[in-house]
Amino acid sequence: MKIKNIKLKNYRNYDALDISFNDNLNIIIGENAQGKTNLLESIYVLAVTKSFLSASDRNLIKFNSKFSFINGLVEKKDCLTNLEILVNDNGKVVKINGKEIKKLSEYISRVNVIVFSAESIRMLKESPTSRRKYFNIQISQINRNYIKKLSDYNNILRQRNEYLKIINGNKKSDQEYLDILNTKYAELSVDVYEYRKNYILEINKYLDRIFKSIVGDELHLKLNYSCNFISGEKEYSLKDNLLWKLKDNFTKELSYKMTLFGPNRDDFYFTLEDKNLSLFGSQGQMRSAILALKLAEVLLFNTKIGETPVLLLDDVFSELDINKRNNILKYLDKKVQTILTTTDIENISEERRKNANVYVIKNGKIISREIIFKQEGDVNE
Ligand SMILES: Nc1ncnc2c1ncn2[C@@H]1O[C@H](COP(=O)(O)OP(=O)(O)OP(=O)(O)O)[C@@H](O)[C@H]1O
Ligand SMILES: [Mg+2]
Repeated sequence: MKIKNIKLKNYRNYDALDISFNDNLNIIIGENAQGKTNLLESIYVLAVTKSFLSASDRNLIKFNSKFSFINGLVEKKDCLTNLEILVNDNGKVVKINGKEIKKLSEYISRVNVIVFSAESIRMLKESPTSRRKYFNIQISQINRNYIKKLSDYNNILRQRNEYLKIINGNKKSDQEYLDILNTKYAELSVDVYEYRKNYILEINKYLDRIFKSIVGDELHLKLNYSCNFISGEKEYSLKDNLLWKLKDNFTKELSYKMTLFGPNRDDFYFTLEDKNLSLFGSQGQMRSAILALKLAEVLLFNTKIGETPVLLLDDVFSELDINKRNNILKYLDKKVQTILTTTDIENISEERRKNANVYVIKNGKIISREIIFKQEGDVNE
């Protein structure tokens, strides 16, 4: 999967931009606040119709403009597709090869991107909700059935929570109805659990090896999935165990007016040498771990879908020492199209720069495409 070209109009700090990418490494250089992250964000929006930075689409529109427009030419299995997104006060219009697509679900995944940014690292420190949201998206990308299961699960969870509120309001409970709700809830919980468990299992096949090759030492990294209804007792099935938990904690659930056990309370965490990374890891270790996760996702995606997603690496080198920077560059497979941003060209060896498209961006404009042949002093003119 490749992105050949992106055109922007009134997108964040860009008036108009027309930028082409090669199939391997593309380097975007610029000082702070010049538009590096904005450019990667526009590619992400083109792929998934939403930003990884802000919840509101209107933030994408350049200040004092009426609309924002992204146009991209993408290649998948030797087939070229033209994608367009227009955002204005009335909402969002998406088009494939000039034809408007009403259902966003039919538009998404024409091009798959994996993004690494400061936001990705923040996920480690945030609440479990943000990690669940993240892994839900990732699992959905490689497994379309998961979206359906998750939506069925969320529906039954909503029904159960509503019923808990009704009973809490002193209405007499209908045991038969509650039993049906609980059984359905437990079955769908186990389904969601299986998808998540398998995903983590698959990611761990790649994760540790990639992490070691980035950090260059023998520390063991693992992604863990903590599920709150796993039975300590092997003789109970997962479903029965959850049903027991619901029964045992019914009074508590009634007073909270919500379901306290199930995938809605699961969490994901990294361990480095069996210690929780978000509690004990250094900034650099966390950065390397998230990067390893992203690279593992690329490989897993390739195995499952038979296509390599486009890798967007935003400011990946900060807080990493020179050895790790070189290890990352070595790791970037020629088959994976990579678009990376950096403030400092010196982060990238001349050897690597030779085969890359290099763009210097200043104040929302490309000011140079041939930096590698210039003296260092010319870079930010
Ligand atoms: N809707 C918008 N309209 C106009 N300008 C915007 C809009 N949203 C953000 N900006 C501007 O874009 C600039 C930030 O761009 P961006 O985040 O891409 O910078 P960057 O090159 O990634 O910088 P850094 O190296 O600090 O991460 C800021 O000057 C900000 O004011
Ligand atoms: Mg940035």
